[in-house]
Amino acid sequence: MTLYTAVSADKAALAARCVEVLEALGHKAMESYGRFIVSLAGGSTPVDVYTLWARESTLDWSRVALVFGDERCVPPDHEQSNYRMVADTLLSHLPVQPQVLRMGGEAEDPAQAAFNYDYALRQLVQPEGRIHVALLGLGTDGHTASLFPGTDALREGDSWCAATQGAATEDGATGMQRITLTVPCLREARKLVFIAAGQEKAAIIAELLQGPLHPEQWPAQFFLRDERINANLMLDAAAAAGLSLQG
Ligand code: 6PG
Repeated sequence: MTLYTAVSADKAALAARCVEVLEALGHKAMESYGRFIVSLAGGSTPVDVYTLWARESTLDWSRVALVFGDERCVPPDHEQSNYRMVADTLLSHLPVQPQVLRMGGEAEDPAQAAFNYDYALRQLVQPEGRIHVALLGLGTDGHTASLFPGTDALREGDSWCAATQGAATEDGATGMQRITLTVPCLREARKLVFIAAGQEKAAIIAELLQGPLHPEQWPAQFFLRDERINANLMLDAAAAAGLSLQG
């Protein structure tokens, strides 16, 4: 497979293009499998995407299964909860509710919550056995989902979900505990769609794509630099500014 990189003029155009891609993949999954299993990214970049998606989608959401790429270890109504962000921007605006498999960020024991999610997700994806599409953001330190540089979660070989910790400086959330899908889980997905916007991402995008291969340091390289993986990278011009795009 190759990495398909699309550059949109600005954040609004990027959100529109991302919705087009998600809709096309969703309709295709429904034709092929009768449903659409999609893993959603957290953070701030997807807010515009989910808001627009809720407005413009023509999918039969009763046949969509929403799962999460990661979650912060906070209650679902906490301002830093990825579930809350998805509920506020997408779920609360849909005419029909999808199936939602929420990560138990509120759990006393994140490792147990991760174990439970692993089990539930493997059940949910049967009989296909994999997520159809995973939408993923990219941090300025090269993380994706909550797969942060140098963490044990990067070395999970079999489990699909792990408890981990965020970067001390990332988002000011000093080392926030998190639950994340793992490298083996995301590698199983039929399609990965990465999204990044803003000039603050330009340097890391260039490192991820054109820098030395060092996925322990830049975890998104586990996916972006593996030609066996079917991935789209969707950027706005500001985030793509550091790339030397061959002719
Ligand atoms: C999270 C996300 C994380 C995010 C990146 C980019 O829980 O924070 O899953 O992986 O996608 O940190 O975040 P922004 O979109 O806010 O730049």
